[in-house]
This record gives sequence, C-alpha cells and structure tokens, in this order.
Amino acid sequence: METIVADVAIVGAGGAGLRAAIALAEADPKLRIALISKVYPMRSHTCAAEGGAAGVIKPGDSLDMHFDDTVSGGDWLSDQDCVEYFVKEAPGELLQLEHWGCPWNREADGSVAVRSFGGMKKQRTWFAADKSGFHILHTLFQTSLRFPSIVRFDEYYVLDLLLDEGRCRGLTAMEMRSGLIRQFNAGAVIVAGGGAGRMFPFTTNGAIKTGDGMALAYRAGVPLKDMEFVQYHPTGLPNTGSLLTEACRGEGGVLLNRNGRRYLQDYGMGPETEPGKPQLKTMELGPRDRLSQAYWHELQKGNTVSTRWGECVLLDMRHLGERKINERLPLVRELAISYLGVDIVTDPVPVRPVVHYMMGGIATDTRAATPLPGLFAAGECACVSLNGANRLGSNSLVELLVFGKRAAGSAIEYIRDLPAAGTAALTARAQESQARIRELFSRTDGIESMSGLRREMTDTMEKNVGIYRDQAGLQQAVDTLGQLRRRYRKVMLSDRSNVFNTDLFQVLELGCMLDCAEALTVGALARRESRGAHQRLDWAKRDDDHYLRHSMVHYRGSGAPRVDYQDVVITRSPPGLRDYSGGHQ
Ligand code: FUM
Repeated sequence: METIVADVAIVGAGGAGLRAAIALAEADPKLRIALISKVYPMRSHTCAAEGGAAGVIKPGDSLDMHFDDTVSGGDWLSDQDCVEYFVKEAPGELLQLEHWGCPWNREADGSVAVRSFGGMKKQRTWFAADKSGFHILHTLFQTSLRFPSIVRFDEYYVLDLLLDEGRCRGLTAMEMRSGLIRQFNAGAVIVAGGGAGRMFPFTTNGAIKTGDGMALAYRAGVPLKDMEFVQYHPTGLPNTGSLLTEACRGEGGVLLNRNGRRYLQDYGMGPETEPGKPQLKTMELGPRDRLSQAYWHELQKGNTVSTRWGECVLLDMRHLGERKINERLPLVRELAISYLGVDIVTDPVPVRPVVHYMMGGIATDTRAATPLPGLFAAGECACVSLNGANRLGSNSLVELLVFGKRAAGSAIEYIRDLPAAGTAALTARAQESQARIRELFSRTDGIESMSGLRREMTDTMEKNVGIYRDQAGLQQAVDTLGQLRRRYRKVMLSDRSNVFNTDLFQVLELGCMLDCAEALTVGALARRESRGAHQRLDWAKRDDDHYLRHSMVHYRGSGAPRVDYQDVVITRSPPGLRDYSGGHQ
C-alpha cells in the first residue's frame, strides 16, 4: 500500500475543509497539507447554499444582538463561549472573503448589502443574490489554488482513521478511479465531511451528504453530540426537496394556508398589523423550527393545500415584482419553473418542510478539537455547540469559515511538539482497514441489497423521527435501525470492479448513515423534553432541570450505543423564553 505523509490531512474539501487548508498554508508554507475529498471540491454541498452568511456589519446592529439571537434561536442549548467567539470572528471572515474576491451584493452607496433572515432580529445576512454558497465555495477554491503546499486528493473515499497510542495519526482512503487504497500518515486530521441529511428520504441535501465524516470519528471513539436535533427547512420544493431559500421570506415573501391566511400569526409570531397587506414582520422571519412546527399543525387542522406532489402551503412572492425577483432571487425563480412549472412572478409556489441540516455531530470544543488527540472537526459534521437545538439560517456558512480556520490553528499548535508515530503500528491498522474492504468484496452469501436497506432506513426516519416525535415511534426506530445494522453485515456488492465502483461507495455510505441514524434516534429517545428542533408529543415542555445538557452518544461496535450528557456552557444568558411576537428590523 502506498503511504503518503502529511503534517495535516483534511477530510472534505467543501467550505470548512478549504478554509482550514488555506489557514494552514498561510500560517506556514512548509506544512504538508493533504486535502482529501470524495468529490471534486466545487461539487461539495457548500455550493448549494443559497441565502447568505451572517455577520454584524451595519450601524444599529451589535455582536451582543447576534449573540442573543443565536442563543435564543438555539433554545439555550448553545455553548455561550462558542457563540461569543463566533459572533466576534464572523465579520472578519466575511470581509476576508470579500478581499479574496467574493462578489457580495451591494447597496446603492457601494457598501455591502445585508438581508433579513429567520430568527435574526436585525438584518445581518450578507449575500450574493441567491447563490451565496456557490460564490463562497468558488472564492475559497480559487484562493486555495494559490498555495502549492495544498495537495489535493480529489475523488478519494476515506475509509478509516488510523490510531496509535491514543492519538489520531492518519487515515486510509480509496482512490475511486483505481480502487487502490492509500495510507495517509499525518500529525493531525481535520474532519470537514459535511452533514448526513440523506438518512431521510426528503431532504435538501445532495447525494453526497451521507455522514461519512461523522461515522469516521464516531467509530474511532469520539462521541456524537446532540444528534437528535435535525433541522427542517420550512420551504422545500414538494417534489425534489430542493431548497427555496429563506431569503424568499427575507425579501418579503409570505406563507399562506389553503384559506389564503398568513397562518404564522396563529403560532406566536406576531400579528399581521395591516390585514391583507403583506409586510415584513417576525412571522415569516421566525426561526426554522417554529415555522416547520407551524406547518405540522396546519396539516393536522386540514389547512394545507392538496397538490399533485402532496400536502403543501403556499409561498407567495408575487408582490415583490419581477425586477426584484430577478435581481435577488433568480435561482429560486429558475428552480420553481424547472421543477414545478410555477413562475413565482405570477403564482404562489407550493412548499413544505424538508430535512436540511444536522445541528449535532462530532463532539468538539471551541478550538474545534475532539476528545481524541490529533483529531479536529469543523463545519456541519462537527458539533462545536454553536447552534444548540436549532440553527439560525445563515449562521452555518460563517460557522464553516470561523471554525475551519480555528481547526487549522488548533492543529498547528497540536503538531508542534508531537512525538513521532510508530509507523509499523499505523501500517498494521491500515492493513486492517484494507481487510475490511476485501471482506466486503469476498462475500458470496450476502442476502441484503444496499437499496433495500437504505429504503427501510429512510422510511423509518421519515415515519418516526420527523418534526414531532414520541416514545413509541422512536423506540420502533431504534429497534429497526439496530436490525438494519445487523442485516447490513449481510449486504452484498453487485459490482466487483475496481474502477469507480459506485456500488461499493454507496454500501460504505449506507454503513455510515446507519451508524449516524442509530446515534440520532437513541439520543432522541433519551431526551424526554421538547427543545428547538426536537419536539416530543409525549414530553411537550422544555425541561432545563434535566436536559439543559448536550447528549453524547458513544459507539459500541455491534452493540447498542451508550448515551451520556455534558453540561451546556452558560456565560451570560440564563435560559429564558423565546419570543418572536415582536417585529423584525
Ligand atoms: O434558506 C437558505 O438560504 C439556507 C440557509 C442556511 O441554511 O443557512
């Protein structure tokens, strides 16, 4: 097996991975950086982000206000030292992108424009039309090309982390083009592998978001934190699950039920002060958890609209006018026309909540360090505890910048005085990793199909682990996922070739999703309260006495995972009521 030696190996070349790589290369041009990704960097899911990135820049706004919105938006499950660090670093990161060439929208006077976003009580979301993620990713990617020390391994699937004497010392990865497995020996590893929304059938997440990074760390002994908090975005296209950005509402779009009523006024999100006259109020700019829950209640009341794609509500943007729509929301217009045949200039578009983001992930501290020495994580795969129980839209694009950079800084510090690794031990671990793949290829008695198991997993998640949950459904999901993990050991490859064996990669991805889904469900069953995006019909209240704590789910091989808890860091905002009855400025 060929061995590649790096000072730092990064898993994932989306926003967080690229930002980490640039920070490493800038800090020390002699550092050997291996940037490993299962897709070409510009195909990373950061590219799909639409609405924008939050950072305080305008007069009248403040870091304290961004802090308060984030902490209350997260239903007080955020670690407040982390939020303080984040809001302080955010504007600098967005300006840095500006200097690297990101084409932020402008006001008429040439200053950076910001727009409204859900749960942010001030306008602070920087944007590039409704293609912000594309422009951010492009900016980071082209900047990364300036640094020869960043060596890319595009289309490599990472298999396992290599541990020696209690430290993470590298990884194994398969080159997808050839099927060859390579050993990467590295002083430190940064995992930036994205989320795991593909555990669910209806999601905004691209097909690549299968929890690989989370599963890598989890299997290596790092707990997954707060996995039960899954974000539903309120406005997905009902057939494809494609995102219609929150910017639709930030720019003034409204949500209507079958009676043409702006129903959010019935869910504690502020009155419509001038009936019939759509205007910006907290209503449509409430946080995503509350808006998705409101949809669920409308569905129970029979107030949704039946369409040929299922039950929906209507997102009405007609009053914005064609000019503004073309300037600010061109992609939204294109998506609605392409996939539903609806032109948002002339018609309201049917939408419904869709799985969008995992608040939970690999447990890290505010330095982006996991409990496993030598392993760091950033971006959606990580849970640094910024987002608590519900992320505010437009915080995540900044999270991956702030904590991608932070992970790089922490990794540099860590490797400074690192003792040499036992290379023989690493090679032995790499051979075990290779043997795992060989065993998969050699199975002849497999009776399970990848697609069958995956369908059962996604059906179970949709049915039992949705916007509202209860004991019976969660218990059923835990039982089913345990069975699916056992049956997964009997899955057989139908393609045994070495060249771009997508069957193999889908089997590996399924294994990751099953582990993540089980961790999520076990965490949800254990949390007997309702907080943020985790709503229990049988435990309807928030319970700070027992659950103002992060769940930590520990992997136990073929056995059921173990859950314990870690205290939330409160620095200055004691848990209070989330109030969205006022206005939005
Ligand atoms: O609605 C959106 O544009 C999504 C943004 C986000 O998830 O931060």
